[in-house]
Amino acid sequence: MKHLVAPSLLAADFLHLGKEVEMVNNSNADLFHVDVMDGHFVPNISFGFSIIKQIKSIAKKPLDVHLMISNPDQYLRDFREAGADWLSVHYETCPHLHRSIQQIKELNMKAGVVINPHNNVELLQGILPDVDFVLLMSVNPGFGGQAFIEATYERLQQLAIMKKNLNPNMLIEVDGGVNQENAAALVDAGADILVAGSAVFKASDPVRYISGLKNLG
Ligand code: DX5
Ligand code: ZN
Repeated sequence: MKHLVAPSLLAADFLHLGKEVEMVNNSNADLFHVDVMDGHFVPNISFGFSIIKQIKSIAKKPLDVHLMISNPDQYLRDFREAGADWLSVHYETCPHLHRSIQQIKELNMKAGVVINPHNNVELLQGILPDVDFVLLMSVNPGFGGQAFIEATYERLQQLAIMKKNLNPNMLIEVDGGVNQENAAALVDAGADILVAGSAVFKASDPVRYISGLKNLG
């Protein structure tokens, strides 16, 4: 499978959000990455349901909603109703992760688990057979525009081996500090989905930048 590219709208110009969504619609991107932050699990606050609904109303590609919120279980249905097609919850926020993943699937969304940079990917062994995707954080969640953490490559390789043994159909998504310089190495190490925020939206030609992320090497 060719890897997927998911521009992160966190880095979009919110004064012209409609135009930014159209730009992604007209690009080679595969998904919209939508970052939800609550000022509690992470030190930043982003956006919620009403914005997601408006994005969904014009989006021509699926919404990949990344929840950086405490107690996500309380809101899974609301995110489905707002328009999420893929939904991921942090390992660090879910004491009953198996139940959370099952509920996301019952709501007919692709179910993902996210893991922070300090946590060993082996912690995901028990849940791996049940997920549609794993989102490996390559920065500490909460902000766009941070530097990529180099130790991610090793974690990615470890996770790729676990995937092969436990759930070959799942996808591995990498999020944070991804750009045209590190994209090829990430795909080589096992990434199936590349999330990129500032690299895309700060580029002089974002559509072309997305094509560059899609057609590597
Ligand atoms: C960080 C978010 C990322 C962020 C990535 O907490 O989960 O999706 O938007 O932004 P860049 O690509 O700028 O690191
Ligand atoms: Zn994200």
